[in-house]
Amino acid sequence: MANSPSGDSMTERLVRVLETFTPARTAQTAAEIGRRSGIPSSTAHRIVGELVDAGLLERDAQHRVRVGMRLWELATRSSRALRLRQAALPFMERVQSRVREHTQLAILEQDEALFIEQLSGSAAGSNATRVAGRLPLHASSSGLVLLAFGGPDLQQRVLGGPLARRTAATIVDPDALRRKLAEIRTLGHAIAPGYIADVSTGVAVPVHDETGAVIAALSVVLPHGAQTEPALVELLRAARDIERERGL
Ligand code: PHB
Repeated sequence: MANSPSGDSMTERLVRVLETFTPARTAQTAAEIGRRSGIPSSTAHRIVGELVDAGLLERDAQHRVRVGMRLWELATRSSRALRLRQAALPFMERVQSRVREHTQLAILEQDEALFIEQLSGSAAGSNATRVAGRLPLHASSSGLVLLAFGGPDLQQRVLGGPLARRTAATIVDPDALRRKLAEIRTLGHAIAPGYIADVSTGVAVPVHDETGAVIAALSVVLPHGAQTEPALVELLRAARDIERERGL
């Protein structure tokens, strides 16, 4: 792969261009992409042009570019998230229709919880999550489940900090977090009252594969102070049904 004068490969530059897109920043000009990726402007313009020609980025009427449907198609088609999401959707719908709050499915990705599906009714409360968005492992119910049942290396990295504070309730002390993770393993679920936003409580349960490893967390976002037990019953039932469905 040809390297640029700064020594990074073409692939690295492509990744830097694509990583300038975030859940909150979905359209940008080529000049903004150049600035945010640290790639010289003329190179950024060329890479963006080539990606547009290939359909991986799309240009809108204001000459800003967005992630293209072709990139979405290629990424979604063969990802391991797709099969899990398809197995989970009917049971997530049941949770959502009964609990009537945001219902979401997250997997572990690069030491964060990555949300691969979310169902929200029109009356559901506020939510810090969206599909293809991420939350910190220590500060969300889904993240805590993925962390509690994750490997020792993962736990060591996360407990080693920094543990960023999101609200007054976020656990930022490693010893307190270690105790919380042990409690989650004992109970088999995580409750995160006000950890990511004062107004909500996350409730999450693990989803296992056929070997017993935890592959995902299924969660709901309740208004702070709401009863967690009815949601927990629905989540546990749905997680069992997803596991059975995947085993078919
Ligand atoms: C959580 O999983 O703890 C969580 C997620 C999103 C929110 C609030 C809580 O908006």
